Amino acid sequence: MTVAFQYFPLFCYTLDILLEHVLCCLKTKPKNITLDPNLRQAELLSPHRKHSYLQILSSTFSRSNLKMAPKRVAIVISSTRTPRLNPTITRYVHDVLTSDPTIPTSHSGTIDTDPRHITFEILDLAKQSLPLYDESVIPAGLPAADPTPHYSKAHTRAWSAVVRQYDAFIFVTPQYNWSIPASLKNALDYLFFEWRGKPAGIVSYGGRGGGKAADHLRGVLSGLHMRVVGTAPALPVKFTAFPVGELEEDKVQLDERDIAGWKEAGIEGMMRNLGMELVCELDKE
Ligand SMILES: Cc1cc2nc3c(=O)[nH]c(=O)nc-3n(C[C@H](O)[C@H](O)[C@H](O)COP(=O)(O)O)c2cc1C
Repeated sequence: MTVAFQYFPLFCYTLDILLEHVLCCLKTKPKNITLDPNLRQAELLSPHRKHSYLQILSSTFSRSNLKMAPKRVAIVISSTRTPRLNPTITRYVHDVLTSDPTIPTSHSGTIDTDPRHITFEILDLAKQSLPLYDESVIPAGLPAADPTPHYSKAHTRAWSAVVRQYDAFIFVTPQYNWSIPASLKNALDYLFFEWRGKPAGIVSYGGRGGGKAADHLRGVLSGLHMRVVGTAPALPVKFTAFPVGELEEDKVQLDERDIAGWKEAGIEGMMRNLGMELVCELDKE
């Protein structure tokens, strides 16, 4: 009985391959089921990948689930002060990308059979509880396949696990004194292999669009060996008041004249291009 249970995942795996082959012959796409995010995390965190693979197999009964799981793209809120404009700009970027019918976005509640589908999720650096860099190990010196358990600090291990869940990133950054905010550089410096090789896009904003911040960020991301896509929309903020003082963050709103100006200058189109470039990079994997 125990032996039968042990070999059950293997049996399912074989059955799945056969089933997929039959479906392929019938030219029918297998139904896509979203992989449970907890299983995905379990796979990432387990030091014994083989064991965790069997765990996933036995729990989902399908190899095609793994192959067709949606790719997760994090849209990163990079500034951490209060109040700030970054969440409002990031929501705008999210809305432009998810409303574009040419980007294969995975909408919850629907069965998506496009194997290239992706989900856009907002990731706020202010919620990561990262102090100013205090890690005692050098991230690039850790085992590439599983660096997470090797960090000396609990907050680094937690941040590592968060970043490993994502397949690509769009960094939405303001310009601070001709560069990026320290909060973003700090969050990037904490890790290495969690970023390496993943596609990345940059959206900047500032009085003149924050192009200098975007240039600096491109250099930093290249140092982390990320695959930075070419299109980098820069949003000049001319009419929206930069938030200061006691203003509540969710009350910060974009001025319609800024949005109209961005549309007229083709910046929304650039954002869609950026989205498609990320999709193309993810398709190469
Ligand atoms: C420390 C600091 C430096 C700034 N430097 C620049 C700058 O170099 N160029 C620019 O266009 N805006 C600059 N600004 C204005 C910011 O673009 C503006 O405050 C924006 O709202 C910052 O994003 P946040 O609200 O998400 O922090 C700076 C703001 C701060 C707080």
